[in-house]
Amino acid sequence: MQVTPFDPATASEHELAGWRDVLNAVVASDMPGEPEWHSDRLRDYLAVTMPQEQRVAFVARDGGGDMAGHANLLLFSGDFSGTGIFEIFVHPTQRGSGVGRDLLKQVAQRAAAEGRETIGVEVIATTPAVGFYEHYGFVPSVIENRHLLNMRDMDWERVRDGSRRIAAGYRLEYYSGGLPESMLERYASTKVHLRVNGETSWRGSADARRLRDSLDTLANRGLRTHLVVAIAEPAESVVGLTELVVAAQRPTRGDQYDTVVAPEHRSYGLGLAMKARMLCELAENEPQLVDVQTWTASDGDPYAHVDAQLGFRNDVEWYEYEANVQQLLSRL
Ligand SMILES: CC(C)(COP(=O)(O)OP(=O)(O)OC[C@H]1O[C@@H](n2cnc3c(N)ncnc32)[C@H](O)[C@@H]1OP(=O)(O)O)[C@@H](O)C(=O)NCCC(=O)NCCS
Repeated sequence: MQVTPFDPATASEHELAGWRDVLNAVVASDMPGEPEWHSDRLRDYLAVTMPQEQRVAFVARDGGGDMAGHANLLLFSGDFSGTGIFEIFVHPTQRGSGVGRDLLKQVAQRAAAEGRETIGVEVIATTPAVGFYEHYGFVPSVIENRHLLNMRDMDWERVRDGSRRIAAGYRLEYYSGGLPESMLERYASTKVHLRVNGETSWRGSADARRLRDSLDTLANRGLRTHLVVAIAEPAESVVGLTELVVAAQRPTRGDQYDTVVAPEHRSYGLGLAMKARMLCELAENEPQLVDVQTWTASDGDPYAHVDAQLGFRNDVEWYEYEANVQQLLSRL
């Protein structure tokens, strides 16, 4: 088994197809029923990052040169320059012979070389990855519940009605692919309310420049953004937003990103109306969509009741596992 660096920007179509095939074999084995990955814009998906961020990748090949597994490590900058997040996928027929360990070792060595103290990985509770990462001393730092909403099995009349139930003095606007320049600042300032205890999530682009970079990066990776914004009249301030992304590489699955309503505008029904309007827009603009996924923190999520009203169903737990890089290297 040989592990080598992999550069998606210059990889051949054949190699990219190999990457996709490993991913689909893993999905079929560990999470049957999840949508398959497609090759559309896969190169962009793997190669493009936010400015100042870097994604490094590795592939493991067996003696015959076939791809047995792959890994990638995303290295953040700024507030998150002490950490990185990674993924490892080993083809089900190649498991149990050290491929996962070899890939993890490359990831940890690179993280150490880049001065990272910790690295993290998302793990689905029902998969063998749990045992693997616990074997190497990873501990869960966050536990979330994944919820799924089936677009083909919805009470559309109720959803349309919900999208119109909005208090006087507010209106909703829908955008796809980005935002008008005039809205960036107002939109970014609403995202500040996503901060918990002064911390912002890596998706919480709470300044206009970073927000523009983030929207551009999504588009450049082949991820189509859909945004519903709540506006308070007559000041025209942005008081709420909800974001959803559909990947060219997995076009039947929608990914709910952030939803937030500014504190003084809560309890006017904006959360439900924005999410309901989003579903109506998706039905029209992404007709191939089969379902939408969202995650809620196990210690409570302000929009869980809204999701439940729309028909999201609790599905499976996801863990964010984390390890100290030096301790991990001593175990590998
Ligand atoms: C987790 C994963 C990377 C492990 O890869 P692997 O090649 O089978 O692991 P290795 O053979 O390198 O195992 C390394 C060590 O971990 C241990 N290990 C591996 N899987 C384990 C498990 N499920 N439980 C406990 N220990 C495990 C092995 O016993 C081995 O220990 P040893 O070196 O002391 O003998 C692999 O199962 C995988 O790709 N899973 C997919 C993960 C995923 O994200 N799935 C969801 C997508 S839908």
